[in-house]
Amino acid sequence: MVAASIVLISPCNVKSSSVKFDGYVGLKQTVLVNSWSPKPSSSVQQNCRRNSVVIRASETQFNGPVKKLGLSDAECEAAVVAGNVPEAPPVPPKPAAPSGTPVMTSLPLSRRPRRNRRTPALRAAFQETTLSPANLVYPLFIHEGEEDTPIGAMPGCYRLGWRHGLLEEVSKARDVGVNSIVLFPKVPDALKSPTGDEAFNENGLVPRTIRLLKDKFPDLVIYTDVALDPYSSDGHDGIVREDGVIMNDETVHQLCKQAVAQAKAGADVVSPSDMMDGRVGAIRTALDAEGFQHVSIMSYTAKYASSFYGPFREALDSNPRFGDKKTYQMNPANYREALIETSEDEAEGADILLVKPGLPYLDIIRLLRDNSSLPIAAYQVSGEYSMIKAGGALKMIDEERVMLESLMCLRRAGADIILTYFALQAGRCLCGEKR
Ligand code: PBG
Repeated sequence: MVAASIVLISPCNVKSSSVKFDGYVGLKQTVLVNSWSPKPSSSVQQNCRRNSVVIRASETQFNGPVKKLGLSDAECEAAVVAGNVPEAPPVPPKPAAPSGTPVMTSLPLSRRPRRNRRTPALRAAFQETTLSPANLVYPLFIHEGEEDTPIGAMPGCYRLGWRHGLLEEVSKARDVGVNSIVLFPKVPDALKSPTGDEAFNENGLVPRTIRLLKDKFPDLVIYTDVALDPYSSDGHDGIVREDGVIMNDETVHQLCKQAVAQAKAGADVVSPSDMMDGRVGAIRTALDAEGFQHVSIMSYTAKYASSFYGPFREALDSNPRFGDKKTYQMNPANYREALIETSEDEAEGADILLVKPGLPYLDIIRLLRDNSSLPIAAYQVSGEYSMIKAGGALKMIDEERVMLESLMCLRRAGADIILTYFALQAGRCLCGEKR
């Protein structure tokens, strides 16, 4: 008899032997261990071939009174009616409260929300939000070198060699069900210029890397960053005029060429992070004109001029040479303005709307979620990542729990997908693998 079963869809490349379920896929591990199959791995393995995992409670042997006396249903009923009630365990005694506990009549409450939180099984049943490796996009830094260079301000992150370290990292991520990445290039200074033309060099670092990745992992989903800052000798996302003004329409022209070069190389989703006006529509037109109707646009719709980007700029050595990004990125004090950006991006044909940073901007994620039917992305940026890493290293917080909680909160606020440097680490946790 099958007493209970649960089916979880898991990514095809999750190693079945390492699958462990906890609260983040809606099933508490304690439930599994205490009440259900103590050894789920056999049925897990069998079913992994179909990309689904089935756990059957029936694997646990039932040790209760199974001895049959050969009585018919009618005889059993008659025995009970005659007062011969069969034995069952007694009602458990009322657990004692510590001495000194005040004695009182209970509060006359018609609703006690704690009832639905009473046991792990009840909590799992009523969990509203889930987090899966399929929701995560892994941002990766690449460079021309062969070695992986650690990034000081982002413990655990590296500038990966595009031909070696990158491939290993991508393959590790795929093993735990993270099959989406976004690429950020560290461009040699000698290739940077005021107009950032290297951004659309079809043999540049990013297009070359996309071609290599698509060759090795054809079903990998590749997101690209569309902005001039890694290629600009000024470290700005757009072309800088003599008087310091960031030139909008001229920059958009460059961004279109950059997006087309990335699409030609095989990018699945181009992601303008520059915050110029009108770039989504212009990029859509440029992609379509070149036959890339199938390439999606994830627009950084509400990208704020945030100090949480500090570690990222160190990683790419892309700090603005002068000034700040406040004439194009949004003022962190603004809420309504995100709606203006949302309606523009929707009208211009964006496929996904992104909010950045993540955790300090949960209200903006919720605002976009409630005002658009498009998928919403949240970017847990470098500063957010590094704060959790630092707090964990100093033993001030439990790094892994805070990581998973922060990701779950971004999902609860309304994000469908999350760009996070924790993607691999979180994917491992969600699959029950330890570091
Ligand atoms: C630039 C870009 C930035 C990030 C992603 N794309 C930095 C910036 O706007 O200065 C930041 C990501 C992070 O901090 O993790 N186009």
